[in-house]
Amino acid sequence: MRLSSSLFKIPIINNILFYDTIGSTNDKAKELARRNSVHGSLVVAKSQTAGKGRLGRSFYSTSDDGLYFSLLLRPNVEPSHLSGITLVAALALSEAIDEYCKVKTTIKWPNDIYLNGKKILGILTEAGPDYVVLGIGINVNTPTFNSNIANTASSLFLETGLIYDKAELLNIILCKLNSLYESFVSHKDLSFMQAEYNSSLAGLNKEVYIIPQNVTLNIANPSDIDLSNLDPYICLGIDITGNLKCQDSFGIIHYVNSGEVSLRTK
Ligand code: BTN
Repeated sequence: MRLSSSLFKIPIINNILFYDTIGSTNDKAKELARRNSVHGSLVVAKSQTAGKGRLGRSFYSTSDDGLYFSLLLRPNVEPSHLSGITLVAALALSEAIDEYCKVKTTIKWPNDIYLNGKKILGILTEAGPDYVVLGIGINVNTPTFNSNIANTASSLFLETGLIYDKAELLNIILCKLNSLYESFVSHKDLSFMQAEYNSSLAGLNKEVYIIPQNVTLNIANPSDIDLSNLDPYICLGIDITGNLKCQDSFGIIHYVNSGEVSLRTK
């Protein structure tokens, strides 16, 4: 993979670091943040030896089949609005992949992207006192997955049979991210993209279960969870802050915050 020089033409990109191998691009970007690096510093790696996922999990990224990068942002928005950045990234990724690979991805709220029912990328957002690091790992040309995740994870290659140019995909993603991010900081909420996000949302207007984060999921088979004690809700999409509107069986609307739960569609 060779990065394109046109990345520097994207206004949000102010600095680029490119590694063959690194522990974690998110850790590197956080280190840069602590050393006062500028907003828009991009860390890209061909592979990671200690890629991190959400909830303390690891993210398999030791081969160079995938695209792994982190972007350091210094957003000028209220701390309470910061969680919106993850949803901005989710929509940018979904739109960029749909356009480049001619597919239709869905977003599993708040920020997982699925293709044909399987997860193809992950987003790990880590915030510090004056920065946000947006870490993205995409299974681009990955040919196989460990049997323990093969049921739930896939790659763009496995779903379409085509090999993709990762540098070109990165360019398209960062262009989308740039324009959605600019709108986000000027609006200070997600009103400008609420309709687009909801139109790609898995489970919209369907029954969903809200699973508290303290319930341990079986990663190999996340559907292997006892839903019988949980109440179903109708998913009504995100509001302008990124919370998910869910209607219970009494017609009462609840606003679910992404920090507290994960969602299961029926
Ligand atoms: C998840 O789905 O749990 C999130 C996975 C995020 C992985 C990316 S790869 C680039 C960046 N560096 C990391 O260590 N993690 C993120």
